[in-house]
Amino acid sequence: MRITIIGAGYVGLVSGTCFAEFGHEVTCVDKDENKIQSLSQGIIPIYEPRLETLVKENAERKRLKFTTDIKAAISEADVIYIAVGTPNRRGDGYADLSYVHEVTEAIGQSLRKYAVIATKSTVPVGTGQKIITHLKQINPNLEFDVVSNPEFLREGSAIEDFMKPDRVIVGANSPRAIELMHELYRPLLIQEVPILFTNLETAELIKYASNAFLATKIAFINEIADLCEKCNADIQAVSKGMGMDKRIGEKFLHPGPGYGGSCFPKDTLALTFTAKEFQSPLSIIETVVRSNKQRKESIAHRIIEVMDGCVSEKTIAVLGVTFKPNTDDMRESPSLDIIPALQSKGAKIHVYDPQGQKEGLALLPEVKWCLDPYTAIEGADSLVIITEWQEFGALDLARIKNLLNSPVVIDLRNIYQPQEMEKAGFTYYSIGRASVKPLKSSLVKAA
Ligand code: UDX
Repeated sequence: MRITIIGAGYVGLVSGTCFAEFGHEVTCVDKDENKIQSLSQGIIPIYEPRLETLVKENAERKRLKFTTDIKAAISEADVIYIAVGTPNRRGDGYADLSYVHEVTEAIGQSLRKYAVIATKSTVPVGTGQKIITHLKQINPNLEFDVVSNPEFLREGSAIEDFMKPDRVIVGANSPRAIELMHELYRPLLIQEVPILFTNLETAELIKYASNAFLATKIAFINEIADLCEKCNADIQAVSKGMGMDKRIGEKFLHPGPGYGGSCFPKDTLALTFTAKEFQSPLSIIETVVRSNKQRKESIAHRIIEVMDGCVSEKTIAVLGVTFKPNTDDMRESPSLDIIPALQSKGAKIHVYDPQGQKEGLALLPEVKWCLDPYTAIEGADSLVIITEWQEFGALDLARIKNLLNSPVVIDLRNIYQPQEMEKAGFTYYSIGRASVKPLKSSLVKAA
């Protein structure tokens, strides 16, 4: 099949590349000429494991190409994906659909034969119907169907998530469109990946509700972690004990400095606005949005507290500034709240992040970027771990102790264990684990 993906951002580029890997003929369109030129030369503008190899292989096999010519790409396609950004609208948090509108206009002007028009971008409930209305206004004789086909990939594991999804969701109102989507996803259906067909609005809401629920799990465990610190409980054992209940599930119960990224903050906020528009407010998600924002803002106070209440003229080494490991993405990262707050109290910041400097340079002025963890740590008065990159998991503790002016470690991702850190002579703060040595919680196999 011939697929056109409009928008070569995270979701569009990964989806297009994976559809090409399935054997389809894919054209990725973007209005950013520089991006298209780089992609055509095999230069990938985002850091995503395995993406570069797959793009090159499929481009060489002529199954994947890049262009700015949206008209040609639309006219020849069987399926046209709308994969443009839906950022929070300036100032009020609603999803900004101006790019979706722009693309819909282009499709209406350029469509020459029947095609399925699929929204891959996360779009508010009702957007699919608006696209149908918009296209019919442009040309009542156009032959098309609109479907909702939201994406659930996570940054840092995007290829894996696309190739092995838990499910495929399709909102479609016509048998012809359903048949085409079945054909498009045949490679996954052969692997028995379940595909759920429903109507447009339901598919759109499944995406928002899924992200909002995952964000709720994270905000929930973060608040439980704060309670653990007060009642001598261990959050890692609480998470483990909860996750053993299959109704709860073990994933997305890791405490931290608050969730970031381009999706959870944006989608939770947009969903609360959509709900208000339909006079069905979501008080829980509104609380999640508030709780997460407050958490990211409160972390700097905790760091200052651990450092005897004052960081003025002190140097703090920060490991990890991206919003999660295995990505270069800094959007809504907790580091963007934590570091400026510490700087406002007079702290000097050294930073090391395997991928964060490219975007971080503009977002985190006045920090000293270092090329490895130990250079960042040398001469610092404390070490703060914000993002759990794998390479921070086995640092040389004796070397760190010698490099630090004072042996203070604040581990916002619970990479290390309190016992081992206290034994190594550190003042160690982590999330949700009492400073008192808790009884070692262990999993005793049922007799
Ligand atoms: C998320 C959804 O997981 C994905 O399905 C959707 O398509 C896009 O949004 P992403 O934002 O890329 O994916 O990353 P994710 O792994 O979900 O992490 C989001 C944030 O939550 C990160 O800041 C991460 O550090 C945080 N997080 C995640 C936690 O704090 N604890 C957890 O247990 C899991």
